[in-house]
Amino acid sequence: MEDSAQFCLDLIDEAVVVVNKNGRVVFQNSVSQKHFGDLIGKLYKAFFDCEDIFVDDEGVVWRVSSSSDKSDSNEIKIFRRTNSLSIGSSFTKREKTSASSFFQGIDDHSTLHSMHSNTSFSILSEIDHFRVYKKAFEENTSGMAIFTVDMSREKIIPAAKNLAFEINRLARLPVIEGIPLDRPMSKADHLFLKALIRVARTGRQEALFLSEEGFYEEVLIKPLSDRDLISVHKEVSAEMNLRMELLSARYLAGTIDQAVISVDENGKIVFVNKAAEILLGRERGGLIGKNINYFLENQSDSRSEKPSAGQEIGERHLFSINKSNGQSVLVEAAVKRIEDSSLAGKVTATVYCLSGLKFEDVIQESAQKTIRGLIETLSTVVEVRDPFTAGHQRRVSKLATAIATEMGLGPEQIDTVREGALLHDIGKISVPTEILSKPGRLTENEWFLIQSHSEAGFKMLERIDLPWPISSIVRKHHERLDGSGYPHGLKGKDIPFETRIVTVADVFEAIVSHRPYRPAHETSTAITELTEGAGRLYDGDVVDCCLSLVGKGFSLD
Ligand SMILES: [Fe+2]
Repeated sequence: MEDSAQFCLDLIDEAVVVVNKNGRVVFQNSVSQKHFGDLIGKLYKAFFDCEDIFVDDEGVVWRVSSSSDKSDSNEIKIFRRTNSLSIGSSFTKREKTSASSFFQGIDDHSTLHSMHSNTSFSILSEIDHFRVYKKAFEENTSGMAIFTVDMSREKIIPAAKNLAFEINRLARLPVIEGIPLDRPMSKADHLFLKALIRVARTGRQEALFLSEEGFYEEVLIKPLSDRDLISVHKEVSAEMNLRMELLSARYLAGTIDQAVISVDENGKIVFVNKAAEILLGRERGGLIGKNINYFLENQSDSRSEKPSAGQEIGERHLFSINKSNGQSVLVEAAVKRIEDSSLAGKVTATVYCLSGLKFEDVIQESAQKTIRGLIETLSTVVEVRDPFTAGHQRRVSKLATAIATEMGLGPEQIDTVREGALLHDIGKISVPTEILSKPGRLTENEWFLIQSHSEAGFKMLERIDLPWPISSIVRKHHERLDGSGYPHGLKGKDIPFETRIVTVADVFEAIVSHRPYRPAHETSTAITELTEGAGRLYDGDVVDCCLSLVGKGFSLD
């Protein structure tokens, strides 16, 4: 059916189907054919149910609407891509005429031609069988205008335009109609006018890309008949902005030294920068579309990366890379999941920022692992001498680490607090067991010996070059802000923040735990002690954080 109406509907990027009163599809334009296949003669409902959403094989989401009234009227259905600027759908009902007359109507070229000769569609409203076509023309989101050409005077006369054309910010109709513009004729206006004349002369269609003041427009001009032209205008500013954003992001990713790889939801690689190509020892072409697991092998449990200023929360993983030459390289990756629902559907990508680990880093990583293991073992040695405080250091470490994490300390500081707390009473191995586990009151001498544990612990650790400054925590965990603590009576700023955290956790744990000379106290006793000492003996912020964790049901075990 090579007629003008179908011709118009085939130019737009929306799917249009016409359904007859029996619910069978009697017309479809080429876009609906492309996305949904051949529907002519088939039952509409078998394909599209009411208010349903479809994803075609190109991953484009389509929203489908149908009449709320299920009477036997004829309907026209317009499907719009949900990522277009105007989301919606439309239907038109015709009460009397059958859909077949719609086609008869638009087959009648003389009638259609008369439409072009008039500057509006109003005359057509008298002709019932054009209502459907008019609706389709008016409601599609591509701006469309029809022109009649007077070749004798080389003049283009606007004949009809749809609503989308009128509201299109780049609509150039006033230029043709001679309506004065509140702006000078732009370069794009001239290009459009010249293209109209050219198409009228040559009879060959033209596609233009026009830009003006940050707006971008794709225009298609086609001859409709000997003396008629149609122009279809589609604003693509959003797409262009997105494209420019993408190009900038690509450029940036290409210039940085860090290797960046993005994968889709299924782990398929969708982007690699130059640094990633070098690190993986493979060309981009050999990476795109492949599963990332083929190249990266996860070597570590993810560990949470605490946010610091200007940094997003992510997870750091240790990977081994399988290079093309069979070599295996260890890398650390910050892994970030990104979700974008600004377009149709939800786009989820995972971005890997990889940094090659130097040999020293690998050694350091493994050395730290060993040291952590040694500290844990050493921590239990105290319990052999002081079985009544079994688990004390482990529980203090758990609470102190939670406080440090909650207060937003960096990974290094959190490690210092965790490991320092695990060994804070290590010096007690130099105190005789009978004193440590003495049920009654201590003599002054015995008390002096007990107090010596913090300095003794410091002496034990000061000669060891540990990755974290934990000997200071061991030495100062009994100091108090007002100088009333021991062994040195340090005050305020002389007590490091990491130590203040361990102190508060130590006091809380000690009060709520059983001791040889007394049973465990209620949590309320510990809360009272810390609240009363906040700002005087203990760091006020640390106390607040500790009590907030306890209030939320923090468990020491
Ligand atoms: Fe202690």
